[in-house]
Amino acid sequence: MVKVAPSILAADFANLQSEIEIVERAGADWIHVDVMDGHFVPNITMGALVVDAIRPHTKLPLDVHLMIEQPDQFIESFAKAGADIITVHVEACRHLHRTLHYIKSFGIQCGVVLNPHTPISTIEHLLEDVDVVLFMTVNPGFGGQSFIPSVLQKVKALAELKEQRGLNFEIEIDGGVNKETVKECVSAGATVVVAGSAIYGAADKEQALQDIKEA
Ligand code: DX5
Ligand code: ZN
Repeated sequence: MVKVAPSILAADFANLQSEIEIVERAGADWIHVDVMDGHFVPNITMGALVVDAIRPHTKLPLDVHLMIEQPDQFIESFAKAGADIITVHVEACRHLHRTLHYIKSFGIQCGVVLNPHTPISTIEHLLEDVDVVLFMTVNPGFGGQSFIPSVLQKVKALAELKEQRGLNFEIEIDGGVNKETVKECVSAGATVVVAGSAIYGAADKEQALQDIKEA
């Protein structure tokens, strides 16, 4: 069963507790937290304080997506705030292997994120070290953008590599996922899909999440 991770970037920030409770009741698997620093991406969102604030209000794993420069400086604070999974961008890490093991040193899961143009060859030699590989199907920075279908070629190629090597990391897709695009994601090999505006932008959020699960 493919997991659905609603992105709270598209939620009502003044009511984060109830926004998270709604999707948890509706069957969400992870809560996706989009952290942006205004440098790696042209937008600023939330920090470890928000992770700390929402932590007591959900039992679901908090999937923290760091779209920031020099993530090593902030990993400890996100881990201590209650992140269960921390993903970092390949493009932001000079010593990616070290960063991944640093995340794991806090007893949590680690993952790598690839921007739409970044080839999978950049992570080929550390697939044994990761719990999650996250493919961006939009250029990171904002919710509500259109899905970039050409990224699915990379997803398929990685899914084959995963099979060949007998590995079992999650393949997560983020950006422009809705009840239509989710189908191609899953057939390409996705095991987790992130959805922001398709869920939080819907009049009936529970139904929107169900629609994605069923698709
Ligand atoms: C984009 C973020 C995504 C975003 C997804 O930079 O990483 O997680 O919130 O939003 P939608 O589903 O609206 O594309
Ligand atoms: Zn994200």
